[in-house]
Amino acid sequence: MQIRVAVKELKEYEGDALIVNIFEKQKKPGGATAAADAALKGLVARKIERGEIKGKLGEVTVIPAGGRLRVENVLVAGLGDREKFDLDRVRQASAAAARRCGEIGSKRAGTVLHGAGAGGISPADSARAIAEGAILGAYAFDRYRTKKGGKKDEKRLRALDLLERDRGRAGSVREGARLGTALAGAAVFARDMVNEPPSEMTPAAMARIAVEAGKEAGVEVKVHGKKDMEKMGMGAILGVARGSAQQPAFIVMRYRGAPGSKDAAGLIGKGITFDSGGLSLKPAKAMEDMKSDMSGGAAVIAVMRALGTLKPRINVTGIVPAVENMPGGSAQKVGDVLKTMSGRTVEVVNTDAEGRLILADAIEYARREKLSPIVDVATLTGACVVALGDLCAGAFGNDDELVGSIIAAGAAAGEKIWRLPVFDEYKELNKSDVADIKNAGGKDAGAITAALFLGFFYNDAKWCHLDVAGPAFAKKDKGYIRKGATGVPVRTLLHWLLARSGG
Ligand code: BES
Ligand code: MN
Ligand code: ZN
Repeated sequence: MQIRVAVKELKEYEGDALIVNIFEKQKKPGGATAAADAALKGLVARKIERGEIKGKLGEVTVIPAGGRLRVENVLVAGLGDREKFDLDRVRQASAAAARRCGEIGSKRAGTVLHGAGAGGISPADSARAIAEGAILGAYAFDRYRTKKGGKKDEKRLRALDLLERDRGRAGSVREGARLGTALAGAAVFARDMVNEPPSEMTPAAMARIAVEAGKEAGVEVKVHGKKDMEKMGMGAILGVARGSAQQPAFIVMRYRGAPGSKDAAGLIGKGITFDSGGLSLKPAKAMEDMKSDMSGGAAVIAVMRALGTLKPRINVTGIVPAVENMPGGSAQKVGDVLKTMSGRTVEVVNTDAEGRLILADAIEYARREKLSPIVDVATLTGACVVALGDLCAGAFGNDDELVGSIIAAGAAAGEKIWRLPVFDEYKELNKSDVADIKNAGGKDAGAITAALFLGFFYNDAKWCHLDVAGPAFAKKDKGYIRKGATGVPVRTLLHWLLARSGG
């Protein structure tokens, strides 16, 4: 979708549709909506009076313009309760309007800046959120549908013009729109990777996409194959890979936006391209969405690619161990002991706790590269979904400021993150009889014992672990989240890195 800024009065806007808004319980249209209402001879106001427009969040009322404006239709988007209004509701209203545009065959629409007047939101923030909402909300993964889907695709909104009458504000609106478009584009890139069937999105395919993205964005990419991993002693990744016919790939992407500095932050993404559970096989139901087990890896690749475009003055290295977890004839067994790259040994008591295994080697790699801080993103535990549900990620770490800054970036992105503790007392749940640690700590505090396992390998490095098992993949459409891959936490990570680079 093309997002542009048009310095125009809304009466002059030429396109298929015009998007205005209304709060719930608002008696009379205000601001730009009042101007549209005047052109429509009070029709919007009458519909509010008659209760045909309620202004609920997600509600979109289509009113044919009947030649009174230079568009076919006026769409009145509900912003919901004025008291609860925030940037995320702008995204949701924008998503609903963009989707309705598609449904009624509008290809080009103009929109007012929701909340930039009476809503107390800056024009730049509103523009960013509108762009994100429209792009993410109109998203569909339909490349595997034959004809029917193709038609649907044609009916998508193609261009959205942000209407700003004040030339003096157009610059900041343009900046906001540009940022929103980049953030949403990165999330879409991740969604597309995750939604691919698992036999397509193999470790080799992830590596190829990373290499291509790197070329496009000017980011250096190195892919280590099995031989390299053997040389580096990555026994944990190789242990997981043993059950699969697919070769693992260890992807490293380096963005250097501050070439004068030796410092670099590290991002690690879990890249299990399919999680069958291995010999500790998952039941059929639990396996259904397991193509999404590379969501963390997809997010890291998408973020590294976006950095090449946004060019912040910061150095970042992205690391993605990409592996399939399968129960093949040479699969690792329950009871096996793996030697990790760090030299520490792990008893595999459950082959379905594979994510922490591959992360252990990736963490050691990041430590040797002297990356700091290190943030990992992983669909790591079902326990985190039990604790926080499917719209919130869990955050863990050993540095309050780091974890706090990630949670704040999440709030700016509209991605919910909640911190969970890593109590030393629970470390004993990971104790092994035969090795330095075991890879599953039992059913209590499952998300925490997984984080403590990672902490064992992070050692004294400054780290934050995001468990995105819940929010990475959606069971139903909701606002700008579409069923399937969500692109979480791509926008959070980009906000965080942009803030670290000084904006
Ligand atoms: N990929 C799963 C976690 C997961 C569950 C992601 C549900 C998304 C939705 C992970 O590899 C896993 O299987 N974890 C086990 C760990 C257990 C064996 C200690 C789990 O959560 O059951
Ligand atoms: Mn698993
Ligand atoms: Zn997994």
